[in-house]
Amino acid sequence: MALMLKELFCLLLIGFTVAVDKNNFKTCEQSSFCRRLRGVKPGESKYQLNLETLQVTDNSVEAVLVNTEANANFQFTLTAIAGNIFRVFIDEVKPLYPRYRVQYALNGEPQVAKLEILERTSDLVKIKSEENTAIINANPLKLEFYHKGDLVTIVNGRGLFTFEHYRTKTPEVEGQEPPQEDPGTWEENFKSHHDSKPRGPEAIGFDVSFPDALRIYGLPDHADRLSLRSTGPGGLDPYRLYNLDVFEYEVDSTMAIYGAVPVVYAHSPKHTVGVFWHNAAETWVDINNSKDGNVVSSIVNLVSGHKTEARVDAHFMSETGVFDLFVMMGPKPKDTVRQFASLTGAAPLQQYYTLGYHQCRWNYNDQDDVVNVIENLDKGDFPVDFIWLDIEYTDGKKYFTWDPIKFSNPHAMINNLTSTGRKLIVIIDPHIKRENGYFLHEDALANDYYVKTKDGNVYEGWCWPGASSYLDFYNPYAREYFKGLYSVDKFKGTTDDVYIWNDMNEPSVFNGPEVTMPKDCLHYGNIEHRAVHNEVGLAYTMVTHDALLQRTPNKRPFILTRSHFPGSQRYCAMWTGDNDAQWSHLAISYPMCLSVALGGLSNCGADIGGFFHNPDAELLQRWYQAGVWLPFMRAHAHIDTRRREPYLFPEDVQNRIRNSLRLRYAHLPLFYTLFWEHEITGDPVIRPLFYEFPNDMNLVDVDNCLMVGSSVLAHPVTEAGASSVTVHLPGGSSQYWYDVEDFRKYTGTGNYNIPVSLDKSPAFYRGGSIIPRKDRPRRSAELMKHDPFTLYVALDKNKSAQGTLFVDDYQSFEYRNKKYVYINFNFENNVLTGSLIDKTDYPTKEWIERVVILGPPSGVKGATLKSKSLGEVKLETSYDAEQSSLVIRKPGVSVRESFTIKLF
Ligand SMILES: *[C@@H]1O[C@H](CO)[C@@H](O)[C@H](O)[C@H]1NC(C)=O
Ligand SMILES: *[C@@H]1O[C@H](CO)[C@@H](O)[C@H](O)[C@H]1NC(C)=O
Ligand SMILES: *[C@@H]1O[C@H](CO)[C@@H](O)[C@H](O)[C@H]1NC(C)=O
Repeated sequence: MALMLKELFCLLLIGFTVAVDKNNFKTCEQSSFCRRLRGVKPGESKYQLNLETLQVTDNSVEAVLVNTEANANFQFTLTAIAGNIFRVFIDEVKPLYPRYRVQYALNGEPQVAKLEILERTSDLVKIKSEENTAIINANPLKLEFYHKGDLVTIVNGRGLFTFEHYRTKTPEVEGQEPPQEDPGTWEENFKSHHDSKPRGPEAIGFDVSFPDALRIYGLPDHADRLSLRSTGPGGLDPYRLYNLDVFEYEVDSTMAIYGAVPVVYAHSPKHTVGVFWHNAAETWVDINNSKDGNVVSSIVNLVSGHKTEARVDAHFMSETGVFDLFVMMGPKPKDTVRQFASLTGAAPLQQYYTLGYHQCRWNYNDQDDVVNVIENLDKGDFPVDFIWLDIEYTDGKKYFTWDPIKFSNPHAMINNLTSTGRKLIVIIDPHIKRENGYFLHEDALANDYYVKTKDGNVYEGWCWPGASSYLDFYNPYAREYFKGLYSVDKFKGTTDDVYIWNDMNEPSVFNGPEVTMPKDCLHYGNIEHRAVHNEVGLAYTMVTHDALLQRTPNKRPFILTRSHFPGSQRYCAMWTGDNDAQWSHLAISYPMCLSVALGGLSNCGADIGGFFHNPDAELLQRWYQAGVWLPFMRAHAHIDTRRREPYLFPEDVQNRIRNSLRLRYAHLPLFYTLFWEHEITGDPVIRPLFYEFPNDMNLVDVDNCLMVGSSVLAHPVTEAGASSVTVHLPGGSSQYWYDVEDFRKYTGTGNYNIPVSLDKSPAFYRGGSIIPRKDRPRRSAELMKHDPFTLYVALDKNKSAQGTLFVDDYQSFEYRNKKYVYINFNFENNVLTGSLIDKTDYPTKEWIERVVILGPPSGVKGATLKSKSLGEVKLETSYDAEQSSLVIRKPGVSVRESFTIKLF
């Protein structure tokens, strides 16, 4: 009986739940280095700086760090980096085995800043750089960082710093070359080193504390809330950073998934600071937030002037690498995120069209299916710019080939798409089918381009094609070869306007440990996979990016990646991977993309509808509505799901999906302008509320809504059958917010219960902003490129507003040659002014068709436009019925010229 019940229970589980198989993936307890480092006792640090060896330069201080117990020496360097950043670097002085240093995350070598010594005693050195000071305590090593006198970050305050090193040669490596006396440069040393035997423990750990911080954010990618939760022995497993292909990942989890960005931001109204751990090996991070779930008492403490006990501690644990830590001194969220962008780069402006709607499925059956999908979308008036081909377009999963039957004439198919302004994206994965006669496999074998096993044989794993090997993107010859494959004469059937999806690049290996490559595999130069694991997806997409630039030098590449690392934003967009058609997965898409955006990758999206399983019509509609406000907007579905292109649904559902897509397309100029500004400043395109309102402690846990730039607040419906949602509108009583659809005005005084029908997905314009839109409905962004703009002027309490607009050719790099128009709009004292921010020009035909003023002044009878080319022109104005908006009709002025419009 018991057995039967148990069996029944199992059947129920199998039948009704979807879940990740946790047995496939390690816990900290099952990871020997995580267990070792978690076991390090606080307060017993054995590491001392020998200040007698101190050397000071204009930008750095250096000294020998000693492990007094093991009598091992390390080189310690603290460098001041421009923009209020410090870098702490520690490596062994005479390494038996040189350690890997991350190669691709930084956007060039960081620029150093001036540093001066304020004080020096036998056991400490006090330094100053820009607005900050730091105290280097020698015994034991402890680093304290102060912003304008306030202690904001402490490294090794708890004494968990650990640098495992090889004290003696292990028996296995006896007979190897002795360590070099002169360590030489790292590169020389690393490359000349040809030993791949086991080397023993080489983990690195450290603690970092943020006194007074209320919350800590970061460490994407996790299917978790934005604000990191406390972890610890007996509680939650640490946040794990190890790029993995997790089948049916679960939400609210600290488990590793596809990407790893080891950056955290500690936040309080007073300071926001961050650290970036520049390491590509498997990493676990324990978080202890002393005020978890208890913001209220912190507020009381702050208000009453008592010292708060708020504090966040983090403990980073990595399997290997050197100690390389950037301390970003803030002091506000915006500054800290910019500091991270100054180190790892920002996304270069993407083609305008890529901000449109992407229609994807595993798989469109054949070339006719592709053409028909677009035709049907056209018939239903659903705007779309890209259609995607998943792995089945290939001939037997051999990339750079086409299925000879189903895709016998890709050129005709592509020409059909491009004739209506649509473009194709095809998948190219890093696993290569091991098949005799497949040119890529044969070239890779002949030229030694594959990743090797620890014994030096070609590594063989299992992936979509069956037996597969993996190109080694650390091999410069393999990179050069692979780049050439994308040219239109090599990748037959493609054109200059075909773009690329790099999936499965963690890499995914179906039969590998934890569904990935064994850590002892070897990359070019005998780099152990262990050292580079989280970076390999980035290395791969860098090559794809170079390849597309080589193929089409004056068109901005578009690449979608699943695996990501700091710096990936310089090459690709990312998405949250294989999500599920569940409400919880819709809900988690906002916190996930917000975390990813703070981690430098603004171009984030989640598959609309959920990849696995079949969403019901309500969930699907809600997903489209939420997807309007995420930078990358793609619908995608698993091969076993029912077809779900928008035109397949009843008319009311179609209407809602169409309205969502039109709302999205109307806002493309806003997204595009924000991406241009992102390239210049590093400011994220989507932002959590705390980022825009850092002084409001009520916002530190809010992650079910987001801001697009600083002007739109979107709060989608993420529950089945909702009749209302509670929306938090911040900013206080003098901050106005306007409903995007009916222009109803609210003040930023906290929670509102907003009634929602299936048609309604709450979104608001922030009073004080001017939002540029293109409101003429069309079938694609390509077809909208010459359309005129409507400016939505959302007035603040003082009846003023400000906004920007960026216009160029939307696809080439000519904007880098000043071929663009960047306009500032300002509304003040009943006058709207448009003025060029930079002395640049682009011969655009775009013009301003309408101005809609929200919360308008009363009694307006008309308006007068003045510009150089138009002179003085009278314009008609009209209020809507509730007088909640005023429309200025047909200004007709080009966005290339300055103008004023005066209300009278
Ligand atoms: C978390 O921090 C608090 C306050 O500093 C401390 O009392 C507690 O022991 C810490 N918990 C863990 C698991 O380290
Ligand atoms: C594209 O395909 C559709 C459907 O097969 C066809 O009606 C149309 O003529 C094609 N257009 C071009 C430009 O090939
Ligand atoms: C309105 O103007 C006053 C005075 O210039 C300023 O202090 C206040 O911040 C402004 N209010 C808004 C909502 O911008």
